[in-house]
Amino acid sequence: MNTNQRSDGSKEVKLAQHLTELVGQKTETRQDPWCVLPYLRLSPEPNVVCFRSQQFVLIDTSEDPPVSRRAVLRDLDEDGGPISPVNMASNSVTIEDIVAARERIKNYVHVTPIMTSSTMDELTGREIFFKCENFQKTGAFKARGAINTVLSIKEGRITPGAKGVVTHSSGNHGMALAWAAQIGQLACDVVIANTTSDIKKSAIQRNGAVLTQCEPNAVSRIETCKRISDEKGYEIISTCDHPCVIAGQGTMALEILDEIPDLDAIFVPTSGGGMAAGIAIAAKAINPNIKIFSVEPEGKNLEPCLRSGERLWPNPPQFLDTIADAMPMQQAGKHTFPILCELVEKTVFTVANDDIVKALRFAFQRMKIVIEGAAALGIAAVMSDKMKSLDPSIRKVAVILSGGNIDIDHLPWAH
Ligand SMILES: Cc1ncc(COP(=O)(O)O)c(C=O)c1O
Repeated sequence: MNTNQRSDGSKEVKLAQHLTELVGQKTETRQDPWCVLPYLRLSPEPNVVCFRSQQFVLIDTSEDPPVSRRAVLRDLDEDGGPISPVNMASNSVTIEDIVAARERIKNYVHVTPIMTSSTMDELTGREIFFKCENFQKTGAFKARGAINTVLSIKEGRITPGAKGVVTHSSGNHGMALAWAAQIGQLACDVVIANTTSDIKKSAIQRNGAVLTQCEPNAVSRIETCKRISDEKGYEIISTCDHPCVIAGQGTMALEILDEIPDLDAIFVPTSGGGMAAGIAIAAKAINPNIKIFSVEPEGKNLEPCLRSGERLWPNPPQFLDTIADAMPMQQAGKHTFPILCELVEKTVFTVANDDIVKALRFAFQRMKIVIEGAAALGIAAVMSDKMKSLDPSIRKVAVILSGGNIDIDHLPWAH
């Protein structure tokens, strides 16, 4: 609704008027932007004010990427008086969203086990806890965000009337969305690079999704996805940049902290950053002192971006040459990046292909579990030299073993 057309004097309208003065452009208020980002996508307005429980989010879409600022209700006097927006990107998803997601998805996903390895504890001199999302539905944590999004659509909380869902994915998110869409009886198209392993392709098809192959580059993926969305009226569900996806992935942190409340750090393999963002929002809300470390494949260069707060990556987006084939994108998401800048440690662990192989071998041989390259990143990080110099007070460390969808006919060490 347009503030100029409203004259009921409500707090939202006063807030919008105030923000209009503040930013010098027309602003809008919405009562229920549970899902900020899809609304943002639909809004023709340069500035959108979102009203959620005790908080407001101002999104300045004239910036690229859009800038989010938070205003808290307590900063607003009873007459809708002055507020002080601050940079607070993480406000687009809150701990409440993540707790609600946990409740929403609980009948569909596993509470995955947390395992330990005394060999690893001896090797690292710390207590390492492995969150085994390789045992998750569809073989990866992606099931969490996908089913949370589909159920949110079915509940009419977001994008009511969507005719279906479409995504581009190197496999795991596509597989998870196909699975979730089948549960929610929604049509689903998945755009996949023609280089993706057969195991992932056939799993997507088994779940009833339509598969469209594209060239293995970021531009082709995005364009193909957009074409399908335009032609069929399907909602694009980003692998990482959708608030319901982020909230779903954040449920992992709730489970981990339920079991290990005195945890010091969580190591998260980071590609688009949906998992790291969700985990960081949940974990930091529960324990502000906990540290969230991103682990990246070589070539991603996340650390300088986090340190400067700027997207230093080249455009168009590049693919990485990594054994972690589920995470080929160099860039973090547009909406996850500010969250990572705010909540994730600036020190990033970077893992080369040789280290991924070593970590995979450790998981197979010593832990007796099947994981994929991306999931091996966290193991490689805690086995690294860099880990040895990490603050010794960081004693209890969780590592996300994010998935197990490896092509056993093409193991990276087999010749
Ligand atoms: C197995 C696995 N691990 C880690 C990631 C990284 O997740 P995100 O894109 O949310 O950073 C992905 C997907 O990209 C994945 O499929």
